[in-house]
Amino acid sequence: MAILVTGGAGFIGSHTCVELQQAGYDVVVYDNLSNASEKSLERVEAITGKPVKFYKGDILNRDRLNEVFEKEQLDSCIHFAGLKAVGESVAKPWEYYENNIAGTLTLVDVMRQHGCKNIIFSSSATVYGDPAEIPITENCPKGQCTNPYGWTKSMLEQILSDMQKADPEWNVVLLRYFNPIGAHPSGTMGENPNGIPNNLMPYITQVAVGKLPELGVFGNDYDTPDGTGVRDYIHVVDLAKGHVKALKKIEENAGLKIYNLGTGVGYSVLDIVKNFEEANDIKIPYTIKPRRAGDIATCYSDATKAKEELGWTAEYGIKEMCADSWRWQKNNPNGYAD
Ligand code: NAD
Ligand code: UFG
Repeated sequence: MAILVTGGAGFIGSHTCVELQQAGYDVVVYDNLSNASEKSLERVEAITGKPVKFYKGDILNRDRLNEVFEKEQLDSCIHFAGLKAVGESVAKPWEYYENNIAGTLTLVDVMRQHGCKNIIFSSSATVYGDPAEIPITENCPKGQCTNPYGWTKSMLEQILSDMQKADPEWNVVLLRYFNPIGAHPSGTMGENPNGIPNNLMPYITQVAVGKLPELGVFGNDYDTPDGTGVRDYIHVVDLAKGHVKALKKIEENAGLKIYNLGTGVGYSVLDIVKNFEEANDIKIPYTIKPRRAGDIATCYSDATKAKEELGWTAEYGIKEMCADSWRWQKNNPNGYAD
């Protein structure tokens, strides 16, 4: 039996393939490569010494999905495939709802037709909106999302939960990621954003490598210790390991489960700049800019539930996250194009 990893060539998916293979699972990756390179899978193979079976395909393509389910013995699916750029989702809401929602509906329909009713879904802390409590537990009510991307996550959580309720043969684990950064410590795999990065860490590493002149810090007048936004940054390898633990939970016939995957620690934008500079001995020039629309002041997790129920805790600290992000960028200034 193998695990279907949709979006497995992407940032989090490729790191999860490494951890799955190292834990003894066979993986089958399904990805349309709209935001990834097949090279990431070669790097997975180089790290684990095991082949990765890859099918190029779209989650909207029912025939292609059927073909994969007919050829492979698939036990569970870890579903990463989706569009994820917040700003783009505001400009192209239809494309986001179609890709993420219609795509997931097609995927789960094909899964159930083939008797595969185990899914781990990539959700996000964005479903909490402006959170009603800090640190955020899983009991914190879901909030108003500020963009279509966030709504696709919130709606898909609802859809998958309703399906599990109607058919308890489904095991559904919703993983709410906080802010994944870092890269594989080998320096051979990492985040590969198209164009100018939107997220903080890839922006910083591109300043460090000389591709961008300076960082813009979006607002220093938030109600936080230094006025800049506070987030829960988590190393992508820790996040990947959380999926292996979630798979174990599914094997216990978990039903519906929801977990935050974060460290439980909040760092401000300026904390990240300082830690990056100290970890790598590189100066990051920055200027304070106006607040970015849709941003919230503070977002960090209470990570107790995943610890108690999955036996999972994030192990990497912020310095390692900064060092690993930089090692990847420095060795691969053009990402997988190098
Ligand atoms: P990514 O873009 O690197 O990976 C997503 C992968 O899905 C890509 O390889 C892309 O080619 C593929 N894909 C997209 N649409 C597809 C389709 N229709 N059919 C087949 N493949 C398709 O992003 P990531 O950072 O690895 O994120 C993985 C998942 O985690 C996404 O669902 C994302 O929304 C979610 N997530 C990410 C973050 C983050 O900050 N990176 C935070 C919370 C949640
Ligand atoms: N920031 C800057 N300058 C930049 C980029 C970001 O100051 O150039 C600041 C932001 O204002 C924020 C913090 O850095 O305070 C983090 O911003 P990111 O864009 O890296 O991350 P977000 O917290 O905004 O959002 C990310 C993902 C979402 C996901 C969310 C929670 O982009 O998809 O984490 O998981 F939903």
